Amino acid sequence: MEETSVLDSKGFDKWAGEYDRSIAESSKGYPFEGYYDVLSSVHSLVKEPEGKNILDIGIGTGLLTNELYKKGANIFGLDFSERMIAEAKIKMPDGSFYISDMKDGIPDALNSKCFDYIVSSYAIHHLDKEEKLKFLKDLKDILDDEGSIIIADISFRNNEDLAECKLESEHKWDEEEHYMVIEDLTGDLLGMGFTSKYTQISKYAGVLELSKNS
Ligand SMILES: C[S@@+](CC[C@H](N)C(=O)[O-])C[C@H]1O[C@@H](n2cnc3c(N)ncnc32)[C@H](O)[C@@H]1O
Repeated sequence: MEETSVLDSKGFDKWAGEYDRSIAESSKGYPFEGYYDVLSSVHSLVKEPEGKNILDIGIGTGLLTNELYKKGANIFGLDFSERMIAEAKIKMPDGSFYISDMKDGIPDALNSKCFDYIVSSYAIHHLDKEEKLKFLKDLKDILDDEGSIIIADISFRNNEDLAECKLESEHKWDEEEHYMVIEDLTGDLLGMGFTSKYTQISKYAGVLELSKNS
């Protein structure tokens, strides 16, 4: 029998049909504590979405950007799972979708575009720290000079907070995922020409907002 891991595209394909329901049932505790509050805080950072070009990285079934789509934003979604994208298309039939692995950088079809916002929820932890920084550098090139990158994910202000949450979640903690620890990223982000602002939304998750300072 073919083996799949939830970390590969086939694993996410299997989850796609059940994803929205499983999230609704698990927004308490690790890993999805405060999921809907986290999404709402991203929505509140997107000013006047109508007509804005918004790229959603790891769009999944479209739970994050569907609200912005309804307000008239032009939604572009990237994900490596065909089935996740199929679900997102049902919610956002006029969206533009790209099947691509974040680890391969920005697909050519997106490289010629310019985005007002690049958003992402619960996806960037699939990249390790070096992969994240490289990907953010590539995203900066397709971001409007006045635009923002908004990343919502399982994340912590510092290593003490991460260690505490890891202890509390015990056997559930996923060692294969790479959660942002903001104190470890701030210097690199500044060096890459980003101004950053981080807000912890729930015990396990926060929102990192990046804008260009050069
Ligand atoms: C936990 S889901 C989050 C989906 C959605 N953003 C949300 O907030 O509900 C993670 C998503 O990231 C996608 N993903 C994971 N690793 C990826 C990779 N290396 N490249 C592209 N997409 C990836 C998965 O297919 C999945 O749709």
